[in-house]
Amino acid sequence: MDLHQETQPQKPPNIFSLSFPNKKDIAYVLILFISLLITSIVFCNLVTPFYPNLLLPFSFSKTLPTNTCDYSYGKWVWDENYPTRKYSEDCPFLDPGFQCRRNGRPDVGYVKWRWQPHGCDLPRFDAKDFRERSRNRRIVFAGDSIGRNQWESLLCMLTYGVSNPSSIYEEHGNPITKHKGFLSIRFQDYNLTIQYYRVPFLVLIDDPPENASQQVRRAIRVDKLHRFSSKWAGADVLVFSAGHWWTKDKTLKMGWYFQEEGRLNMTMDVMEAFGKSLQTLKSWALMNCDPKTTHIFFRSYSPVHFRDGEWDTGGRCDLSNAPEIDHLKTEVNEPLNNQIIENVVKEMETAKRKVQFLNITYLTALRKDGHPSRHREPGTPATAPQDCSHWCLPGVPDTWNELLYAQLLSNGF
Ligand SMILES: *[C@@H]1O[C@H](CO)[C@@H](O)[C@H](O)[C@H]1NC(C)=O
Ligand SMILES: *[C@@H]1O[C@H](CO)[C@@H](O)[C@H](O)[C@H]1NC(C)=O
Ligand SMILES: *[C@@H]1O[C@H](CO)[C@@H](O)[C@H](O)[C@H]1NC(C)=O
Ligand SMILES: *[C@@H]1O[C@H](CO)[C@@H](O)[C@H](O)[C@H]1NC(C)=O
Repeated sequence: MDLHQETQPQKPPNIFSLSFPNKKDIAYVLILFISLLITSIVFCNLVTPFYPNLLLPFSFSKTLPTNTCDYSYGKWVWDENYPTRKYSEDCPFLDPGFQCRRNGRPDVGYVKWRWQPHGCDLPRFDAKDFRERSRNRRIVFAGDSIGRNQWESLLCMLTYGVSNPSSIYEEHGNPITKHKGFLSIRFQDYNLTIQYYRVPFLVLIDDPPENASQQVRRAIRVDKLHRFSSKWAGADVLVFSAGHWWTKDKTLKMGWYFQEEGRLNMTMDVMEAFGKSLQTLKSWALMNCDPKTTHIFFRSYSPVHFRDGEWDTGGRCDLSNAPEIDHLKTEVNEPLNNQIIENVVKEMETAKRKVQFLNITYLTALRKDGHPSRHREPGTPATAPQDCSHWCLPGVPDTWNELLYAQLLSNGF
């Protein structure tokens, strides 16, 4: 895609907005205009083949501006040359659980699939360009471990072409592990910081209120954001990853109940609680994010692929080594989470925030081959469930970041 085309579409001048004294004059000018148009078409055809664009600005261009391109729909194509400039599992920011080859995965094909959106191309990921654009900036990922998966992918993608690896480091010397609440990687030469905050629910998880019944172990405060949120203010890019924990299994069944306005609500529906927590996040963002400079993303739901059982009942995903490419066979159900997220995105757009929905659900649903499956981090007992929720790296989240880059570019980052 030509990046130079990624500007706002030029609206054709409205010829009818000129004022004329009466209808007769309008008709006269119209006839004149049409004959002029016909003459110019004939003339242009004599000189060169007919290109409608030659008639601009008087004809209405049919080409859609590139920033309306919908990257969310398309297909995976096998591309021996992909990825052209890629990191390897040696990238120092990779969690051991995502290094699938190192953990024994025998096939390599899963990194050779390129996402081809329908009707347009993704701009090639240019690490140097991304770093330059991000100079003196702070990029924040906040959310669940799928967000950490994406954060690690972006870090590794951005290290491409940096000659001095020690110029990129964790600010507090912490190792990359899944147990840390907060990690901050600095790209010293660019004064760029890329952070991850582990906040699976985004909102605050609290002790139950006094006198709550015995079954209540934790209170999920849908009207109060996690305390980490104080550190998100002032970020230039915010990528929220949420929704994966908003299931009955991960809340009510564990004795985690929703609390609002100081009171537990034992009957609140999980999806309703998710919507409320996003409203809490929205209010925070409207107060704390600069409408002109802060780019806010909500990443959509990343589908899981457990077959022959659920995650805790022997479900597996080590049977596939290729994406789903039979599109007729593939029906991707839109999760309710996505609609809730998209509604919040629309409300924030209305409030004139630079907010985008990073819709990766469809493309990710096709990648049943991309999970660590039984190739989990060293030390995992053989009887442990397969990991069919997270993603091998390099792998599928790299494509999410290609979309992130494309959407940032189209929004003037
Ligand atoms: C996300 O993208 C898929 C594929 O284009 C589409 O079917 C779905 O409606 C989108 N979801 C939302 C909430 O826009
Ligand atoms: C580094 O970036 C921060 C913002 O992330 C900015 O406040 C600071 O002034 C920058 N430092 C230099 C030396 O440019
Ligand atoms: C909790 O129960 C005790 C004893 O019944 C009562 O004195 C106290 O006021 C209750 N606290 C709240 C917050 O309801
Ligand atoms: C609990 O939440 C549901 C759904 O939001 C609401 O209809 C109901 O009134 C709430 N109950 C209490 C006791 O607040």
